[in-house]
Amino acid sequence: MKKKIALFASGAGSNAKAIIEHFQNNSEVSIELIVCNKSEAGVLKIAENHKISSILVDKELFFSKNSCLPALKVAKIDFIILAGFLWKIPEVLIQGFPDRIINIHPALLPKYGGKGMYGQKVHAAIIANQEKESGITIHYVDEKYDHGQIIFQAKCAVLETDTPDTLAARIHQLEHKHYSEIIEKVISKLG
Ligand code: GRF
Repeated sequence: MKKKIALFASGAGSNAKAIIEHFQNNSEVSIELIVCNKSEAGVLKIAENHKISSILVDKELFFSKNSCLPALKVAKIDFIILAGFLWKIPEVLIQGFPDRIINIHPALLPKYGGKGMYGQKVHAAIIANQEKESGITIHYVDEKYDHGQIIFQAKCAVLETDTPDTLAARIHQLEHKHYSEIIEKVISKLG
């Protein structure tokens, strides 16, 4: 039986797109569902283009009623992959999918992580602190922001001429190169 993934994403969706394309003709894994919390998110169009079901979740219902659970159950989801979702994952989901929720963070955790550290804010802080390198962290999700066990990291240089945008572009390249492969490895190991 193929392992079924739900992608939680609420941004432009470039990682979601790379993951969808990576697993398109995969015999072991299928991308079944996109869970999104922004009606204008680019990832919804990507889901539509690839004929993948998507649901838009409301903040209040997501946290008070775990409103995405029925869709995850109906789709028989095995793994949840976060790719720019930003909301904290409720405990009931973490308990329901032990070691089966993975996130990607655009920096070398444990530095530059935690609440409020996302997207351009991360890159701006790294540049402001004159860091010489940054990178990506792929990790399991637990109850705290950007805290679960690290699965994989990759580094890149931070240039003196970098702006948050140029650094973000370099980080995105790393993300697109590694995230799908690491997901595939974790799934084949855990089965
Ligand atoms: C990525 O940089 C990822 O590290 C972070 O959110 C961003 C999402 O970008 N968690 P995209 O929507 O996949 O282009």
